[in-house]
Amino acid sequence: MIQTVLLFNHRYYKSNKNVHKMKKIGNFRNKSFTFIVLIFLLINTIFIIYSCTKEAEIFNTNYQYNPTPYDLNSPPYFPTNLNIPEDNPLTEEGVELGRYLFYDGRLRGYSGTNPDSLMSCGTCHLQEYGFKCGLNHPKFPEGQTYGITGLKTPHFIMPLINLVYNNEGYLWNGSLSPRNPNPDMQSLESFVSVVIEDPYEMGGSIEKAVQVISSIDFYPPMFEAAFGTPEVNIDRIEKAVAQFVRALVSFDSKFDRYLRGEEQLTDSELRGYILFTTEEGADCFHCHGGAGTPLFTTNLFYNNAKDSVFTDPADRFGFTRVLADKGAYRAPSLRNIEFTAPYMHDGRFKNLDEVINFYSEELVVSPYVHSLMHKIDDGGAMLTPKEKTDLKNFLLTLSDHNFINNPKFSKPEELP
Ligand code: HEC
Ligand code: HEC
Repeated sequence: MIQTVLLFNHRYYKSNKNVHKMKKIGNFRNKSFTFIVLIFLLINTIFIIYSCTKEAEIFNTNYQYNPTPYDLNSPPYFPTNLNIPEDNPLTEEGVELGRYLFYDGRLRGYSGTNPDSLMSCGTCHLQEYGFKCGLNHPKFPEGQTYGITGLKTPHFIMPLINLVYNNEGYLWNGSLSPRNPNPDMQSLESFVSVVIEDPYEMGGSIEKAVQVISSIDFYPPMFEAAFGTPEVNIDRIEKAVAQFVRALVSFDSKFDRYLRGEEQLTDSELRGYILFTTEEGADCFHCHGGAGTPLFTTNLFYNNAKDSVFTDPADRFGFTRVLADKGAYRAPSLRNIEFTAPYMHDGRFKNLDEVINFYSEELVVSPYVHSLMHKIDDGGAMLTPKEKTDLKNFLLTLSDHNFINNPKFSKPEELP
């Protein structure tokens, strides 16, 4: 409305200016012209009065809408380029609404109570496992997730940690990205709808989701607090859930306290850190970062020499069609790696010892191995047992216990 008024005023101003000009020229004065001008002014006045009343109405109903900006409190050594769309800034109210929706099994549009028909984001993404599902989930043995329809998800699950700092694309193959021509696969917002409908995940319906959520008395006031009016629609559901996912930030590990000069690493942890960040050592840092890339990932895609035959249609190549991307996946952040077993896109390693043995002596040659896998010719970094222990001890300094216990990220004690 404000825009219309501005546009209209602008036109009004211009037309007056023209009249003025014409008067000055002095060769165009007659009654019908004056009449037209008067009518025009009259319509203008009526329109402006109407617009102002409308505007006042809007301001009146919105007088309470004043959401609190949500502060991520990122440490100064973290990237500042946040993946937050302009039309969905984080607010306390939006994140809190998103938390409820994330854990509410009715988000798929199911209104009953049969536990077998309930599935939320939080069924698969559990806080205690860094928002993966763990190895001992009663529904997902060995960490293999299934959709509500019983279909296996094509890959193992990913953690939800520090996604707000990733601008390179989400999912194992990075296909959730503005570079994807499919508009449903461009942002965390659009992805919420994909998950709600996907038979590999929640297998629900958008229409029913909106219906069910708006029928629960608790929600409309939460939508009002987050978005200004109580209306529940899919756009707002997407926005709130995406806000919650972006709020899942982690930078309070022992290693962070070490970076901030608040805590010392043990000798073994320090030796592990040096192995991690040197080419002569275990050479992990090119892909998984370090003090200079404190997300502990570049968020880029590599073939890390696990196989010689590549059949997964949804690897990085499946998205980019660039041959060099065969068998490549996103390098996950190693923050909270202690909690997020099993490891790799196919969950092939059950614990960190298996991962370290792999990088130490089990690398597999293929034409697609990434050039940063410098140790490929030796079959791995050839670590001694002591070095393996040191490397593992260092990886364990990346655990953020406050993150996996933070009540702001937890399942609400009671869903409405
Ligand atoms: C059936 C289990 C399941 C459910 C339910 C589920 N997810 Fe996932 N999620 C997965 C799996 C598996 C992946 C990895 C998919 C891949 O890359 O192939 C994943 C990946 C993701 C990612 C990408 C993370 C990254 O770092 O790139 C996001 C974001 C995500 N899920 C959010 C959600 C949200 C939000 C919901 C609820 C609306 C949800 N998920 C529900 C299993 C699930
Ligand atoms: C060339 C890049 C590269 C190098 C070097 C590298 N990694 Fe990785 N790492 C990856 C990729 C890519 C994945 C995911 C592969 C997949 O899912 O199939 C991965 C996965 C992992 C995982 C499992 C993460 C998870 O959430 O499943 C761990 C742990 C890991 N790497 C540790 C290390 C360590 C320790 C080193 C050094 C010895 C190292 N990596 C060196 C690229 C690399």
